[in-house]
Amino acid sequence: MTARCLHGSGADGTIVGLHPTRKIMPKYFYLLAAGLLLGGCAASPLLAPPAAERSDPHSFANTDAWQVEHLSLDLRVDFDARALDGSATLELRPIDGGSEHLVLDTRDLWIGRVEVGNADGWQDTAFALGASDGFMGQPLRIRLVDGAERVRIHYRTQPQASGLQWLTPAQTTDGKHPFLYSQSQAIHARSWIPLQDTPQVRLTYDARIRTPEGLLAVMSAENEIGTERDGEYRFEMPQPIPAYLIALAVGDLRFQAMSERTGIYAEPSVVEAAAAEFDDTEAMMVATERLYGPYRWGRYDLLILPPSFPYGGMENPRLTFASPTVIAGDKSLVSLVAHELAHSWSGNLVTNATWDDFWLNEGFTNHLTFRIMEEVFGEERGLMERHIGYANLLKAFELLEDPRDHTLAPYMADTDPDEGVTSVPYNRGALFLYNLQHRFGEARFDAFLRDWFDAHAFESVRTHAFVEFLREHLYEAEGVDWPYDWVHAWIHAPELPAAHAVPRSGRFAEIDARMTAWLAGGPVDDLGHRDWSSREWEHFFNTVPTPLDAERMAQLDRSFGLSDSDNRYIAARWFELAVASDYEPAWPAVRDYLLSIGRMKLINPIYRELAKTEAGLEKARQVFAEARAGYHPIASNAIAAMLESAP
Ligand code: BES
Ligand code: ZN
Repeated sequence: MTARCLHGSGADGTIVGLHPTRKIMPKYFYLLAAGLLLGGCAASPLLAPPAAERSDPHSFANTDAWQVEHLSLDLRVDFDARALDGSATLELRPIDGGSEHLVLDTRDLWIGRVEVGNADGWQDTAFALGASDGFMGQPLRIRLVDGAERVRIHYRTQPQASGLQWLTPAQTTDGKHPFLYSQSQAIHARSWIPLQDTPQVRLTYDARIRTPEGLLAVMSAENEIGTERDGEYRFEMPQPIPAYLIALAVGDLRFQAMSERTGIYAEPSVVEAAAAEFDDTEAMMVATERLYGPYRWGRYDLLILPPSFPYGGMENPRLTFASPTVIAGDKSLVSLVAHELAHSWSGNLVTNATWDDFWLNEGFTNHLTFRIMEEVFGEERGLMERHIGYANLLKAFELLEDPRDHTLAPYMADTDPDEGVTSVPYNRGALFLYNLQHRFGEARFDAFLRDWFDAHAFESVRTHAFVEFLREHLYEAEGVDWPYDWVHAWIHAPELPAAHAVPRSGRFAEIDARMTAWLAGGPVDDLGHRDWSSREWEHFFNTVPTPLDAERMAQLDRSFGLSDSDNRYIAARWFELAVASDYEPAWPAVRDYLLSIGRMKLINPIYRELAKTEAGLEKARQVFAEARAGYHPIASNAIAAMLESAP
């Protein structure tokens, strides 16, 4: 489409006015309407080239002509309307001379007005939203002027924004104030900020956020500790980051320091327990810096979210977002902090360029997590984590039907990248690195990874760049022949290479022996499970024969009180087993659980297990109907799809 086509569209938001009809109008209506409003462009209704022709198929942005270098947000948080309202100003850098238009990513945004700025100042400009394309959202095409340096978009989010969750006071832990938080990864930033939503582009940002008085706003940026709660907050993120790491939360938050550079933000009743649980964070930072070089982001704080947070953790820079389900009381789930902290190197510093390269983020981070756990808590602790990772990988191979999904090179172009979040990038990725470490030794491999992070700091990388780096900086540097077939198989073959090292925990071998004795009729107390940590339970649930007979289910429940467990991680695995074993006494607790927790990794397997039988599916549908208002849109959509596709 040429720039001429844009002249027909005013800056008056006419095209935006089509938006409320989105739910009822078929797609061709948009194509037609967009074409008419764009003045005779109906023959080319798409405002961006097809997915396969874009360097990141999950973004409409024309990053080959412009790259956004800096974002200034000015937003008001409106809890009544469930909307963010204000503007985003984008500083542009032309690539190869730029072009006459800028294409951005949006999803469910109301665009009011767009201005373009050059050396002469600001002026209103024409813009158009393209057809809505499912999880991709809508391209926003903006007409530029000569010498354009920046654009300012006045906009408003919609209540259903996929990257935001608006919680009523009743949905928070303390029950007194509303709460808002964002979750931008993978491609949800576009649902609350119009931008180039691709990890190929890095930008710095600043923000002014206005909230109802008394609530505190925090962002993945410099947060001023002890700032006055006057309802106006300013942030600055000086390091360039990909869009998926822009994050915001607003609520009745308290802060408690853990060390000079680490601390906890949480609701008042949670902050103390969280600070106690995670007080090894500083030691983890010291260990990680020793292994992989300096921490480059200033502070490292944790924000504990209400229980509906759909993930265990999210590595928003300077401020990891975490689920309260990791506060186990005995520090047995603190590897989550190691994981999110490790992303400060693998992911936030060196970033996957596309979602096909996701294992460069998560597989590396998983490997780093295990190394940090070994350094801080001893080798066996790291080995247990690796062992579980391996078991989860084998389970994922069984569940994932498409062989491409078993590889580190999936083809995600037509798929919502959130669907690529399986055990494969995490655990196949980490297993590959574990095998390289096995070949070259721990010290050499740690040093190699440090070189990788240094060489690509603040860059976005593709898988082939890593493979080349590996060949040159490890194999050639050590004078070792390049095992092309073996490396190729790790990445591209559905099966694991025949020759690979498997991590095995001695502690788990002991559990296996005790379980065998119990299953042969031995007393339940001989399992030794009163002292088990979350990981030992996890191994137990991974290996116990399923379904388990009613007698043994009752034994476990009686002697350990599993249905009433305070550890929400252990409880989830028990409930999964309870559903699979048709252990009716646990049902009231299962139901309460599904109504109170929104972390997908914990609740999705229970729903999946329920959906396997007709009676279970009925129960699942009923409880989901009640629970879904409390779930995050990402979780709610994923579970709805799962239950709809159930036989
Ligand atoms: N970045 C991920 C979470 C994520 C991935 C969100 C892709 C959206 C799309 C985070 O670092 C993560 O891996 N979380 C895990 C932690 C676990 C592996 C310790 C989780 O939430 O369970
Ligand atoms: Zn991660």
